[in-house]
Amino acid sequence: PRIAAIIVAAGSGTRIGGTIELPKQYRAIGGEPLLRRTLRQFLTHPAVSSVTAVIHPNWAEAYQDAVAGLDGLAAPTFGGATRQDSVRAGIEALAGDPPDYVLIHDAARPFITHAVIDRILEGFAASDAVLVAVPLVDTLKKTDDARRIVDTVSRDRMWGAQTPQAFRYDLIRAAHARAVKAGRHDFTDDAAVAEWAGSTVMVVEGDPGNTKVTTAFDLDAADRRVRLEDY
Ligand code: C5P
Repeated sequence: PRIAAIIVAAGSGTRIGGTIELPKQYRAIGGEPLLRRTLRQFLTHPAVSSVTAVIHPNWAEAYQDAVAGLDGLAAPTFGGATRQDSVRAGIEALAGDPPDYVLIHDAARPFITHAVIDRILEGFAASDAVLVAVPLVDTLKKTDDARRIVDTVSRDRMWGAQTPQAFRYDLIRAAHARAVKAGRHDFTDDAAVAEWAGSTVMVVEGDPGNTKVTTAFDLDAADRRVRLEDY
């Protein structure tokens, strides 16, 4: 089967500082732009046949600098106002030459490994929609506005969703199209779009190390982690 990867990197990175600051996906971890490291994990996987980044047009130059010299990368696509819109742009960019499956991954998770990608590909034998997730280790507490606990949720069978989230291409393309038609732009992950559209999504075990770089603290931790691994 032909397997495409879409790496969404069109966030403006405001949580790390002001919008004028270089977004986190273009910051270096261990001397390499974070996005470049993420793209490399997919470009070097033998089963992945195409890799497309979805970027913000304001950062097109930073993108070109970040990926200079990388082999086999498709032309980037411009994203939208929400993650959901950016993913949809990436999906539609593949419509001219549709793959069988698509792996949708956040640029902000640079520690994705080939082993996790392999587990997704194995998951396709059982399901057209596969989510990488880790079992929750904390007990979940729900509070009211005054932070008084109103509910304790058992962690039994509870998972924390990561990316990649992976689907048969025509399934996720149709689900995203339906979501937009219904006026929905607020889905924070693609499994939720597929679930909403009626698909059954299967979980395969992710990796606790496949963390998301969101804050300045995360970026610093990621930088130290790469340097330690390379030491
Ligand atoms: O904002 P959040 O951390 O949920 O973003 C997850 C991923 O989605 C990031 O890699 C970010 O660059 C991407 N994103 C996007 N387009 C947006 C918002 C976020 O591609 N409009």
